Formats: sequence, structure tokens, C-alpha cells
Amino acid sequence: MTLTPAPGAAWLRWFLGRVAYRLRQARSVLWPQVDPVLLAAARSRLPPRWRRPFDRLGGSEKAHILRLYRAITTDPTLSDSDREALVPLALTHDLGKAITRPTFLERVVKTLLPIPNRSHPILGARLLRRLGAPPALVRRVARHHRDPGHDRLLALFQRFDDVL
Ligand SMILES: [Fe+2]
Repeated sequence: MTLTPAPGAAWLRWFLGRVAYRLRQARSVLWPQVDPVLLAAARSRLPPRWRRPFDRLGGSEKAHILRLYRAITTDPTLSDSDREALVPLALTHDLGKAITRPTFLERVVKTLLPIPNRSHPILGARLLRRLGAPPALVRRVARHHRDPGHDRLLALFQRFDDVL
């Protein structure tokens, strides 16, 4: 969820930032970097029943999750309580992709074009509800590509999710 600034220099900076972001995402889809040690550390933070759908995610999704996990666990500006809430959200927000299982071509197209992400947030939220996840986490997973409204933590998460 990224808000578009008004035309002008700010818009150009925003646009070039989005292009750079899309190119980084494309590189990650083509050559995902999944550090097995970091993956094991991140996975161990999940309740055992949540690990099977996590394992079914593709390499590029895992690489994205690990970039978020690393950034959130090392960001010195985050409070401990925000970090504790952000880590499970980072690890589970795209869990719906374990169900939609986008093909390689779909991943590339969705990375390069601003196509809205509709199904995986809802499917991921349903899956997490079935797995007994806390309602706040389920709600944030369902809304992670939408306007965060007054949800400060979801807005904070989107700042990481939009650039990593
Ligand atoms: Fe997503």
C-alpha cells in the first residue's frame, strides 16, 4: 500500500523509488536469496502448526520474508513491543501465497506491473484464523495491501513491506 504524491519533484522521486523497488523485486524473483540459517531462525518463531504452510512458500516469497525479518529484528528504532508484533506479521503476511502458489511467470508479471494483490491476503487470513492466530494478526494479514487507516502497527509494517 503506497500513497501516490502530487505531481512534481516529490512525485518523480517517488516514481523512481518505485521503479528501483520493482527492479529489486524482479531480481529477487529471478534469483531468490534464502539464507538457510536465517530461514531456520525465522521459522522457529512460528508455532509448529504454522510451519507447514510457511514451508510451502516459494523461494522468492521466503527471500522477501527474510529481508523483512532481518530488517525488523535489527532496526534499532523499533520498540521491543512493536518488534514483537511485527515479526509474526512479517512471517505470515504472505502465507496465502502458499495456497495461491503463483507461477514463476505470474510472480514476474506481478512484480513488474502494479497489479492489485487481492486473493492472497484473504486466503492467508482465513488460514491463520483456522490455525488459531490472534484476531489482530488475522485482521492485519487480511488488510496488508490496503489502507492501514488508524492501525499504526500495520502502517509501520507496510513501510518495511513496501521497500524490501
Ligand atoms: Fe502480500
